[in-house]
Formats: sequence, structure tokens, C-alpha cells
Amino acid sequence: MTARKIIIDTDPGQDDAIAILLALASPAEIEVLGLTCVAGNVPLALTSKNARIVCELAGRPEVKVFAGAEHPLVRNLRTAEHVHGATGLNGPKLPDPEMPLQDQHAVDFIIETLRREPAGTVTLCPLGPLTNIAMAFRKAPDIIDRVQEIVLMGGAYFEVGNITPAAEFNIYVDPHAADVVFRAGVPLVVMSLDVTHKAMVTPERNEAFRALGNRVGIAVAEMTDFFQSFDLEKYGSPGAPLHDPCVTAYLIRPDLFTGRHINVEIEIASELTMGMTVADWWGVSGRAPNALFMGTIDDEGYFALLRERLALL
Ligand code: RIB
Ligand code: CA
Repeated sequence: MTARKIIIDTDPGQDDAIAILLALASPAEIEVLGLTCVAGNVPLALTSKNARIVCELAGRPEVKVFAGAEHPLVRNLRTAEHVHGATGLNGPKLPDPEMPLQDQHAVDFIIETLRREPAGTVTLCPLGPLTNIAMAFRKAPDIIDRVQEIVLMGGAYFEVGNITPAAEFNIYVDPHAADVVFRAGVPLVVMSLDVTHKAMVTPERNEAFRALGNRVGIAVAEMTDFFQSFDLEKYGSPGAPLHDPCVTAYLIRPDLFTGRHINVEIEIASELTMGMTVADWWGVSGRAPNALFMGTIDDEGYFALLRERLALL
């Protein structure tokens, strides 16, 4: 099996960081062509710094990291320091990056890569707001048909919203970009809150990360120690949903997940439900399916995969 070539579009964010570490720890299955950063959990200057911190934590300073959109297509940026901390990577004490940020804009890297690589061989893995992806599709529509698949973290149906009563953060921050991506016709795999909320980092699972004993395991435990404090206060449940690593775990072990191929459209008109993923789970709309919308996860298998791979870094 040849490794799947991917671009991770990201707004680190502790859970983004773990998703990136999982990808970098799995070279047999995943070839990371580059990380493209977007404003989301924290502003772009911090997400593009954090992405490099994570690459150096993984011992991979050669990974190309690109800065992309500083704000959504239409709306003002909404960040999530209340969840991720002021740096976006609160928890572990990690050194500032020495590796450089690439000069090329992230959107141009996405376009150039999709035009260079054989059609149908590059998967896009967005872990934050979809601004960079939508900008690339608008600037170069010819690349849309060249994308193998988009496997993203975002949206919700049964779990409804985590930033508003109706919307999940990544989609809410840039609903117009999400509308572009969900209408583009590229095969979509959606890791929504419906599945990520079943992937909880319990205190026991967190201690198992720490018990790996390597620098990465300890740093991951410190990240999720911090990351879970928000969820503990909000939901009263010990542990945080480990959202973004569901994306890279799917590339390695798709059998850990189940979902339905359904129609999903994005609310961009009503302020009340702005950014809602209107997922036709029961097939009542008559609208054509456009996404594999995930609903279940083998959470024990997911955390076993994370422990197995993070131990290798
Ligand atoms: O709603 C969860 C998503 O928003 C995750 O990707 C998290 O990193 C934040 O970006
Ligand atoms: Ca994210």
C-alpha cells in the first residue's frame, strides 16, 4: 500500500497538534506534503507558529509549513482562546520554533500542489475553518476535480452546536467557506461532533499518554490536561472530545468509523443558525448526497492507535 499524500490545513489547537503528530508518526500510510495554517482557534500568527512547534516536537523540522488566511471570507474572525488558551497550545512548555515558515501563501501552495501531483492523488485534511480551501477553489477552479478526497473535522447533527446552539466552531467561523467546499462536488468525509464527542480523553486515557514516557507522550498529556478543562466546566464530564485526530486516524484505520452518505448543506442566511450543518441523516430532503457523515467510532481502537503511533515519535 502506498502512503496517501495529504495536505493538513490546520488551526493548532491542541487537538490539531495531536492529529498532526499522528500523521507524522505514520509514514507508511500518510505522506504529509505540507501544513497550511488558517486563523481559527487563535489568530494566524499563532496557528502558523504552533504548527512549527508541533513539527519540531515530532522531530520533523523539514516539514513545509505555510501561512494562509488571516480571517474568514466574509465574517469577522471568532477565536477560541477560552478552550485552547492564549497561545492556542497551552499545556506543555515547548520551545519557540527554529524552522522557517515558507514564503509562499498557503492557498498558492494548495493550488500548485494539486496542479503538480497526478489528479486524484492528493487528499485535503482540513482541521479548522475552511477559508484556505475555499479561497483555493475560487482562485483555481481547475484544481477541484483533481482533489482525491476531503476528510475534514467539522459540523454536527445530533450533537448540534459547540460554539452556538446550532453550529460547530470550524464551520461557524467561516460558514461561507464551508458552503463553497460542501457544494464543490469533491468527495467529502465529515468527522462531525456526532463522532468526535464519542472520542473522549478520559483521565485514564490521558495518563496512558503520559505513561508512554517519551517527550511526545508527555506533551500530549499536558495538552489534553489543559484542553479538557473547558469541557469539564461546560459539560461536567471528565475529559475532552479529541476532535481533529479523528481525521488522520480515518486515513490509517477507516474501519474505526461508521457513517452515512447523505446530503449536508451549510446555513449562511440566518444569524440564529449561521454555520449549522443541515445534515439530512434521515434522507427526507431529496437533495443529492454529498458527504460521508460519520456517526460512530471504536473509541478504544482509536486511543490504542494513538498510543501505538505516538510512542514511535
Ligand atoms: O469544534 C472543534 C474544532 O474547532 C476542532 O477542530 C478544534 O481544533 C477547533 O478548531
Ligand atoms: Ca482545529
